Amino acid sequence: MTVRIAPSILSADFAALGDAIAAAERGGADLIHVDVMDGHFVPNLTIGPPVVTSIKRVARVPLDVHLMIEEPDRYIEAFAEAGAAMMSVHVEAVRHLHRTVHAIKALGVQAGVVVNPATPVASLEDIAADVDYVLVMSVNPGFGGQSFIPHSASKLRAVRSLLDRVANPAPVEVDGGVDLRTIGTVVAAGARILVAGSAIFHAPDPERATRDLKAAALAALGAPSLDELGTR
Ligand code: DX5
Ligand code: ZN
Repeated sequence: MTVRIAPSILSADFAALGDAIAAAERGGADLIHVDVMDGHFVPNLTIGPPVVTSIKRVARVPLDVHLMIEEPDRYIEAFAEAGAAMMSVHVEAVRHLHRTVHAIKALGVQAGVVVNPATPVASLEDIAADVDYVLVMSVNPGFGGQSFIPHSASKLRAVRSLLDRVANPAPVEVDGGVDLRTIGTVVAAGARILVAGSAIFHAPDPERATRDLKAAALAALGAPSLDELGTR
């Protein structure tokens, strides 16, 4: 399984999203990560389905929509219609997670579940076989530009082994504080979809920043992990 880079437009200039997306795509973005916030589940407010519809018109790569909202069930159809290829919901925000995951899939969208930094991996046990991906938050959701929480590395490993245990090849995604310093750690810990916001869109050249992150991720993928070295 290779790595995919998912630039988060949260840190881009919202008046020029088309340009930001085009630059990231020229740099090799595999997905565009769209952060939806409602001012309740997280303290910040961002975008809704109409903006996703507009982004869908200009993006050439699939849209990965991260719902940081209360009662996401009320909006999954609208985001599917807007063009989401992947949609993730927080386990902390959903009462009937199995129903929600299958509702997303029934719309022809890949379904992901997200865990906040303080949410135990055990909360995923009974849904692990059903998901198309798991997103591990490596910062508390709500804002770009925060520092990577070091405990996230062991959490990524734990999620990977949980998915392996239920024979689900679904990839693990990581979101928050991913940059050239942390990218090797998250890839070695099993992350295969890497979200990066400020490391790309606050860089002087987002196209180049995307390319550099992808190269670093692929290099980390090629390097033997500590676990592998231990068994040699
Ligand atoms: C945070 C969002 C992230 C955010 C990441 O709540 O879910 O996708 O854009 O930003 P960086 O990469 O700057 O930590
Ligand atoms: Zn996100």
